[in-house]
Amino acid sequence: MRPSNLRACRLLEIPTVSDPRGNLGFLNELEHVPFSIARSYFLWGVPDGASRGGHAHKNLQQFLIVLNGSLEVALRDDREEMTFSLNHPTTGLFIDRMIWRDLRAFSGNNVTLVLASELYNPDDYIRDFHDYEDLMRLATNHKG
Ligand code: TYD
Repeated sequence: MRPSNLRACRLLEIPTVSDPRGNLGFLNELEHVPFSIARSYFLWGVPDGASRGGHAHKNLQQFLIVLNGSLEVALRDDREEMTFSLNHPTTGLFIDRMIWRDLRAFSGNNVTLVLASELYNPDDYIRDFHDYEDLMRLATNHKG
């Protein structure tokens, strides 16, 4: 398992072609999305104000795009936290592996598309924050 990199998590601009007929956003693998895409899934019908997430992934990398409505994403490692507000489909959020994430304040009939670097694997999830902290400590010690 490679160590976490909270600083690698960032907002990325999604190229968009606009004309009087509307807007078209596109994403090229390894160009606009910084990993090979193995899976995509989407969240919709989430009640306003609801929260999701509350876990980290050992290897999975993800790219979140809020297609409708808005969402707040809190990302943390064992030391610090960063919060992002997503409310427009011209911006996506890259989430690196080994990052604890909380998705909260879903609102405005939110629809969120997630691109993922791996197929779904329940063993990739870390659902207990203490387990996450232990793994982070191990990774830090391994780095020296
Ligand atoms: P989970 O990743 O826990 O969602 P969230 O963090 O938004 O609460 O997944 C919720 C449920 O959906 C869980 O039972 C696993 C299932 N699931 C799949 O079957 N395939 C997938 O690709 C994903 C992301 C989830």
